[in-house]
Amino acid sequence: MPKPEVKIHYKNVMADVIGNEHGITPAQLKDLAEKTSPLIQQLNKERQDGKTPYRDLPYNSRISQQVKELVEELKGRCENLVIFGIGGSALGNIALQTALNPYMHNIDDTQRTGPRLFVFDNVDPPQLVSFLDWLGDKLDKTIFNVISKSGRTSETAAQFMIIRQLLLDKLGPDGLRDQVVATTDSRQGTLRKIAEDADLRCLEVPDGVGGRFTVLSAVGLFSAAMCGIDTDSLLEGARDMDTRVKCENFKKNPAAINAAINYHFYNRGKRIAVMMPYSYHLKELSDWYRQLWAESLGKKEDLTGNEVHIGPTPVKALGTTDQHSQVQLYREGPNDKLFTFLQVCNFDKDLKIGPAPDCADELDFLAGKNLSTLLNNEKKATEYALLTDKRPCLTVFFEKVNAYTVGQFIYLYEVTTSFAGALFSINPYDQPAVELGKEATFALMGKPDYENLTKEIQSFTDVDEDFLV
Ligand code: PA5
Repeated sequence: MPKPEVKIHYKNVMADVIGNEHGITPAQLKDLAEKTSPLIQQLNKERQDGKTPYRDLPYNSRISQQVKELVEELKGRCENLVIFGIGGSALGNIALQTALNPYMHNIDDTQRTGPRLFVFDNVDPPQLVSFLDWLGDKLDKTIFNVISKSGRTSETAAQFMIIRQLLLDKLGPDGLRDQVVATTDSRQGTLRKIAEDADLRCLEVPDGVGGRFTVLSAVGLFSAAMCGIDTDSLLEGARDMDTRVKCENFKKNPAAINAAINYHFYNRGKRIAVMMPYSYHLKELSDWYRQLWAESLGKKEDLTGNEVHIGPTPVKALGTTDQHSQVQLYREGPNDKLFTFLQVCNFDKDLKIGPAPDCADELDFLAGKNLSTLLNNEKKATEYALLTDKRPCLTVFFEKVNAYTVGQFIYLYEVTTSFAGALFSINPYDQPAVELGKEATFALMGKPDYENLTKEIQSFTDVDEDFLV
């Protein structure tokens, strides 16, 4: 039986559909093919030279094996799995869980094959207090996976320090050792030092891979495998997509085409990229994509050091929910967006809509139809409405949603990001602008040697009563 695939449909960005003013003409597509084709070879070569180690994660059986062994060891005594991490150390975990486990996973024991999963990617006090109140005396049945490559990210460090003290108080040093798994750099960094000192179980954040490209490493695989997700299929999907995205024929390479289309529209003033899944399961993949796209492509300098201030703005929306919130703007506001829908061809669960009440025969048209038919027709309706206003639309089709197709999608978008970086001539693998915020937090929280920065920040952020109304 053929395996379900993820495919991009790009007819509705073409001039034939939305006209020359907003669409891509065949000549423009040819130009894009000519510009992008050499980049396929270039990216393949960079990968061979070890410059993009994320590309090889789906083949890394050592990571997979380590994760499986740890899951085997811990699963029997873990009713709750808590992730502490932020950005690339959290969004992939959330996306996998939402995509591949039932909506009621945490609530309904019968829908769960592993622990409940809670991901904390913020330092919001009432949120954590509420959770810890609920957790109460279940500490010994809870595994805390602290994920930080650097170990110096204030949010994750603070979360860890709270839970460390709680574990020490309630369960002692053995409890700390038994209940915490640290996922961090293999050799260096604060969390590595702490883990060695407290003899914690460890998993590795792979060398040379930025957080947002780590979901297919132990960073994302551990929580997925603990919670019953088929990580072998996830990685197989990524490997099968790899075959397609290294293909040197532009027309057959979905990542190259996707990046080229995004690049083209950015240069034509459509600088907002809206990803709109029509599936609750795919909802958080658009949040994962948002970070991947924003942190990788939003750059001040190009590869030769010129100031370019480049980068499409990724926006997430959800169908049908945001039809009733955003689509008015999307259709009648500025034509400055490229839309990417995510559509599921076959839902693995469905419901039939019941009969209309006698007093409301105007609802008969819905009666007896599948809910999935309504959802997918709503997507087509929105796409049609946008096209009538000459808004370019891509669709990523998921034949079905399972670990294999989600693995394909993740790898497709990671490599699309590499292509987009090459087209924009920027480095998609660093995030220098995130660092100043981290440093400023150190200063404001009183870290030694940051006194001058603290004073400078306060001159900007102190509230001026003259301007307070
Ligand atoms: O993609 C990235 O590199 C970032 O989003 C990081 O994942 C995030 O800042 C957290 O960093 P760390 O894992 O070092 O705590």
